[in-house]
Amino acid sequence: MAEENFTVVTEFILLGLTDWAELKVVLFMLFLVIYAVTLVGNLGMTLLIHITPKLHTPMYFFLSFPSFVDACYSSAIAPKMLINLLVVKGTISACMAQHLCFGIFVTTEGFLLLVMAYDNYVVMVNPLLYTIAMPKRKCAGLVTGSWICGIINSSIHTVSLGKLSFCRLNVINHFFCNIPSLLKLSCSDTSMNELLLFIFSGVIAMATFLTVIISYMFIAVAILRTHSAAGRQKDFSTCTSHLTAVTIFFGTLSSSHIQPSSQYSIEQEKMVSVFYTLVIPMLNPLIYSLRNKEVKDAVRRAIEMKHFPR
Ligand SMILES: *[C@@H]1O[C@H](CO)[C@@H](O)[C@H](O)[C@H]1NC(C)=O
Repeated sequence: MAEENFTVVTEFILLGLTDWAELKVVLFMLFLVIYAVTLVGNLGMTLLIHITPKLHTPMYFFLSFPSFVDACYSSAIAPKMLINLLVVKGTISACMAQHLCFGIFVTTEGFLLLVMAYDNYVVMVNPLLYTIAMPKRKCAGLVTGSWICGIINSSIHTVSLGKLSFCRLNVINHFFCNIPSLLKLSCSDTSMNELLLFIFSGVIAMATFLTVIISYMFIAVAILRTHSAAGRQKDFSTCTSHLTAVTIFFGTLSSSHIQPSSQYSIEQEKMVSVFYTLVIPMLNPLIYSLRNKEVKDAVRRAIEMKHFPR
């Protein structure tokens, strides 16, 4: 056997989105703006909810976590991607670490979306009993549970990736270390990894998504039954925007489990990945919080306080 077959790969080359230099500059600026807005929007929202006593209710408690997770998971991808857009040959040595972090945050986000759907359901079905139905301990438990699921799911995938050996090939045709690309490069048997991916990412993610959809169906029925025409419209618009965000999140995320076969579909898959790794985290604060009157008021007050300190 050739000796070079046993060269251990310690560093991967990320081909990124494009190799066209002019386009790289444009993409760099675009993604820098997206990432900056993501950080300011999400961390700002988390902070705002934290410092505004009026927003210390379970609903906002739940909203503050996805905001925080959004900021985290775009941070697992964006900085390295931005740097790699500026250099000729983008590399990454902490491939598994990047995958571990991203996996934790993305799974936690999925489960938090489920928790929020449940929370919405409790609010809509019985607003008067809401505080009794959602005591502090239950809220904290649901959020902790989401984090634990995230850590378990991501660890399982990362450990099983860590068992693979990578021989000579180290060029990843993507802008971050994702599982399908790594499986393609490995020179060991990857059937176990594929099975785990199918169970934990395919089946569980699908089940989570369906549960979210079903919760919103129950919410729709509850709105129709209990609310007046005016209240109905407001609640419907809240639910539709949540549902849209959830669908885009799970819809684009499911593309990360597909191994595209042709060059053309690899390029398409990368574009779709841009959505769930970079664009959606930026839009989430707008969809979930800024449409909300209480949040808008709190933002206004925070800005006024800065300009006219008392
Ligand atoms: C588990 O993590 C992987 C990435 O490590 C992710 O692609 C998948 O969607 C996650 N599964 C769930 C159920 O969120």
